[in-house]
Amino acid sequence: MERGSRADVPPSPWWAHRDGALFCDAVSLESIAERFGTPTFVYAAGAIDAAYDALAAAVPQPCLIAYAIKANSNLAILERLGRRGCGADIVSGGELARCLEAGIDPGKIVFSGVGKTDAELVMALDASIRAIHVESVPEIDAIEAIARDRGAAAPITLRVNPDVDPQTHPYIATGLHDTKFGLELDVARGLLPRLLASEHLRLEGVACHVGSQLKSAEPMADATEILGRFAVECVAAGAQLRSIDAGGGWPIRYGDEELDYAPWAAFGAAITAGLRTSGADALGLELIVEPGRALVGDAGGLLTRVVFVKEQHGKRFVIVDAAMTELIRPALYDAYHAVVPVRATEPGGPADLVGPVCETGDFFAVDRELPAVARGDLVLLRGAGAYGMSMASQYNSRPVAAEILVGGTDATVIRRRQTYADLWREEARPG
Ligand code: LLP
Repeated sequence: MERGSRADVPPSPWWAHRDGALFCDAVSLESIAERFGTPTFVYAAGAIDAAYDALAAAVPQPCLIAYAIKANSNLAILERLGRRGCGADIVSGGELARCLEAGIDPGKIVFSGVGKTDAELVMALDASIRAIHVESVPEIDAIEAIARDRGAAAPITLRVNPDVDPQTHPYIATGLHDTKFGLELDVARGLLPRLLASEHLRLEGVACHVGSQLKSAEPMADATEILGRFAVECVAAGAQLRSIDAGGGWPIRYGDEELDYAPWAAFGAAITAGLRTSGADALGLELIVEPGRALVGDAGGLLTRVVFVKEQHGKRFVIVDAAMTELIRPALYDAYHAVVPVRATEPGGPADLVGPVCETGDFFAVDRELPAVARGDLVLLRGAGAYGMSMASQYNSRPVAAEILVGGTDATVIRRRQTYADLWREEARPG
């Protein structure tokens, strides 16, 4: 992705230079670095609200926006979205615990994932979540057994794999037959008689998710149409469906796009079209979508300080105090994140922007035109609000970074930086 592609900084009203220094909303990033240190995730609260409103305006209503909290599960962010009426798409007991802690309405929580344990399923039923998206026959067996033990009926959704190519990075494509996700349509269809006859399973909907960072709305239209036709079949077979879930994948701009992504409204229109073509629009179902990065990605940046600038073998290395431990996306997907100097400066020529971790893959940018920066300067990695902190690790015994939420002129710590003692807090030294 990195090499040969267009490299830009996506425009945003939330990240702008004023008098030569970069601000998040009305707070200068220099003041944040001074008060809270680096590396630090900085989020613009207003950008999260604006993204939520823009998404709500782009989807056909009524629609439940079930935020895929894996993108960023900080409690302050969950609470903020929950207050606006947002639900959640979760993939683990830990994510469920976070949602409950943040006060997200359990009736708006859906549970995806191919490997839910019995303990997680029990927890989901205890919490009375909206639905468990089932992804395999053994999972259905497990849910049915647990619900039978409890003398209850578990609300389930069939997550089907529509075999649609999302034309995205292979690591974030999920709706093709050869991935581990979802049920093949034939299998899902074959399950209907069993599900409808079961006293302990209540088929409440159908779902799919084709992949992330969709470039065009076409895969979403295709997938929704396939899903819609399946919903029609389910209803014809006697199911009392309540919802149809079109998944996530709503894209954001990172800055390296060869072509602009389709606007969110096009994805909303694709869903409408898919529902209409399939006839599912006549079923009166509630629509659910599961955006993750769209709600938080551009709202966040990773603020980091240049430790050294080093010339080696005719190459410039800018070494910063953030690493793959804070933002693994470049290492994992060769993903592009725009690099913005906090003090406006001249171009500095091609360089690698790297972290201090002992891995060759610990890079943020390779052979990229980077600004002229020196030891002590601050830079911001844009688009780090999603899949940044939520994928963080303590590798190389690096304390987990701080997270700061900015609203107007206020900067609030929503996660304090870990101390060294935090690194071994859960460890024991027997003998
Ligand atoms: N729904 C389901 C069932 C998912 O598996 C995902 C993402 C989403 C919704 C939200 O996708 P989004 O709207 O954020 O694209 N770590 C990768 C992304 C992996 C996403 C996995 N599933 C990255 O940094 O790009």
